[in-house]
Amino acid sequence: MRDLFADDESLPQQWQETLCPGAMILRGYAADMAEQIFREIGCLTDVSPFRHLVTPGGHTMSVSMTSCGALGWMSDELGYRYTPVDPLTGRPWPAMPVFFRLLAENAAATAGYTGFCPDACLVNRYTPGSGLSLHQDKNERDMSQPIVSVSLGMTATFLFGGTQRDAPRRRFPLVQGDVMVWGGQARLNFHGVMPLKETLPPWPLQEMVRYNLTFRRVMPPGVK
Ligand code: SIN
Ligand code: FE2
Repeated sequence: MRDLFADDESLPQQWQETLCPGAMILRGYAADMAEQIFREIGCLTDVSPFRHLVTPGGHTMSVSMTSCGALGWMSDELGYRYTPVDPLTGRPWPAMPVFFRLLAENAAATAGYTGFCPDACLVNRYTPGSGLSLHQDKNERDMSQPIVSVSLGMTATFLFGGTQRDAPRRRFPLVQGDVMVWGGQARLNFHGVMPLKETLPPWPLQEMVRYNLTFRRVMPPGVK
């Protein structure tokens, strides 16, 4: 499809939307990398499979999750936290693929955050009906670095609010290849994902699924 329009500059394949100071959507930024990202997700879930975590309140999350990188995110009756070992396998989380890290660093720099160096990447898997209720990403010890979130697979409606839970929130469709970056004064903004609706999955997927990679810097540089 793309080649048909390759010479038409009025049809940009990538564009940027600023949501508020500190937060931006880079539309289509990772669209060309979808196949490679799916391959990497396949490899890393062979090591640390997707699982449904339980919140400290005892609720089983509708999204299934895994992680890669030096630290992975987990939740159980004791709370939300990052661990160096996958509790399911008893082994370190799979390494973050270099290509993932470069994608996240470059997207962050494009959004104005130079020097982003993620040490954790959460991988979420949504099927129709799965969503993520409004929350803040606040388990990281280093709040000076942004969150970089890469959407793949089916389109989801993303909710983006303010630093207070009851602040007005806006809805944005996120399609395969969109990268959202929030940091600075938007770093602790509440956000969530509406329950996924049944739609056609984008190429090359054959099943109704959405994946999301969120890259974070958990430990301040120099802290082990
Ligand atoms: C998250 O808030 O951690 C994930 C967001 C998403 O799936 O788009
Ligand atoms: Fe989040």
